[in-house]
Amino acid sequence: MTPESHSLTGDSPAGTDGPRPGPPPGCPAHGLGPGGLSRLHESDDLKKLYERLRAEHGPVAPALLHDDVPVWVVLGHAESQQMLRTPGQYCRDTRIWGPLREGLVKPDFPLMPHIAWQPICAFAEGDEHKRLRGALDSAVATIDFRTLRRHINRSVQRVVNAFCEDGEADLVSQYAEHLPMAVMCQILGMPEEYNDRIVEAARDMIKGTETAIASNAYIVEVLDRLTVRSRAEPQNDFAGHLVTHPAGLTDDEVREHLRLVLIAAYETTANLLSNVLRQVLIDPRFRAQLNGGQMTVPEAVEQLLWDEPPFSTILGYFAKQDTELGGQRIRKGDGLLFAPAPANVDPRVRPDPTADMQGNRSHLAFGGGPHECPGQDIGRVIAEVGVDALLMRLPDVELSIHEDELYYTESIASRHLVALPVHFTPRPQQDVMQRPTHENDAPVQQDWHIGAARPGTVRETAPAAAPAPVLEPPVPQPVPVPLPPPVAEQGPPRNTWQRFLRWWRGY
Ligand code: HEM
Repeated sequence: MTPESHSLTGDSPAGTDGPRPGPPPGCPAHGLGPGGLSRLHESDDLKKLYERLRAEHGPVAPALLHDDVPVWVVLGHAESQQMLRTPGQYCRDTRIWGPLREGLVKPDFPLMPHIAWQPICAFAEGDEHKRLRGALDSAVATIDFRTLRRHINRSVQRVVNAFCEDGEADLVSQYAEHLPMAVMCQILGMPEEYNDRIVEAARDMIKGTETAIASNAYIVEVLDRLTVRSRAEPQNDFAGHLVTHPAGLTDDEVREHLRLVLIAAYETTANLLSNVLRQVLIDPRFRAQLNGGQMTVPEAVEQLLWDEPPFSTILGYFAKQDTELGGQRIRKGDGLLFAPAPANVDPRVRPDPTADMQGNRSHLAFGGGPHECPGQDIGRVIAEVGVDALLMRLPDVELSIHEDELYYTESIASRHLVALPVHFTPRPQQDVMQRPTHENDAPVQQDWHIGAARPGTVRETAPAAAPAPVLEPPVPQPVPVPLPPPVAEQGPPRNTWQRFLRWWRGY
């Protein structure tokens, strides 16, 4: 039984244009298509639907996308690994997808931006994938993570400066959607391009609004400039490493990979950062574990990667030959939805889906096999430093609404927190080169002491015009440190452990 056989047996052939008559919402048949298969895009609770599919079909279930295009949803952790790690049987080349070849997938298919084939590593396989991925991996490998932490800390100061005097902010649109862009512009080699406009353009492209095409054109133009400049005078940055790599990437390839990296990094990291911040703000158990030292910020990030992977699903993988997966017969050309969200709660690896995973990294949030995310450590460190440094800067930050009032937008591909309104004691802007500080008299929320933040160690915020010492803000540390008596933060490290921490944090 293949998804195709289901999709083609209904009264209304898959892929025909125009609305099809269907049962009204509320009717048990609502959300079902030809052959009684579930239409994923009509579900208002995908998490529940995936569990129903798992119960009905096991770890690999047939389902329908828009226009009743058939797909297999890979719900099992082991089956996902098998699919990701067997490039001889499954690939990411959308051109072999049966429904696309047969014309069932129309040009206006809503998931087209995810499946329109391009000559980039995300769709390539074999030697071509190795060539393109080799250049990306080398560029990532040149990143010094201590320097990166420093950049992230500076970016946190810059982004927080935009709202710290107001005493209130939306941490999604004013923080989580800005920080990754500020950091990625720096990494790629175009720090001067970070501004509201590029954040707006990236947001717009991802949300697929009416102006998405113009936004995409703006980003392509920015990356074209970077490519031309790097080719003429390569620097020691991501773009510089791409143009000089022996793989011999053309200018188009460089620009398109910069675009892939920028968008892949932006959306996912913004989503992860929003989720970790939300969890810290709403979940007393989560916060208690952080405060009690049972969990560090990196572990908190890992927990969210299990619970709410930034890409809920990815379309997709495609069968290169007839095969079998999770007890289902897969035909050559079938499409499979890689689904980290349900795979991460597969009862066979996680009998209690609410269990604390304690830093375990075997989740599928970054995929696996040849296409496994090359930027995962960058995403992790932006989220870790982004949470820790924000709490250092605004230690009394609190949610302004009840957690039940938080709302999300959900699509097959991802689930996004829409806003995270908070309030805090208004604070003056801070020099971006300065370590994060909060005023002595600010009401410090004692239970934020995940890592280095501690009451009594604060110092007066330097006036904007004061010469800035080239010191960096602290970053998450692996274990909570007992609170010593107040010391001047700029004093020299007093013992080996403190010297080690300073070295590790990068300041
Ligand atoms: C929390 C942050 C991130 C998450 C959750 C994430 C997740 C993913 C996932 C699930 C894939 C697909 C893997 C597959 O097909 O098996 C992927 C691919 C990719 N990611 Fe990330 N990513 C993140 C951050 C980043 C960053 C910071 C970069 C920048 C370097 C990046 C660059 C890429 C690229 C270039 C690919 C395509 C790789 C290929 O097809 O060979 N990602 N990512």
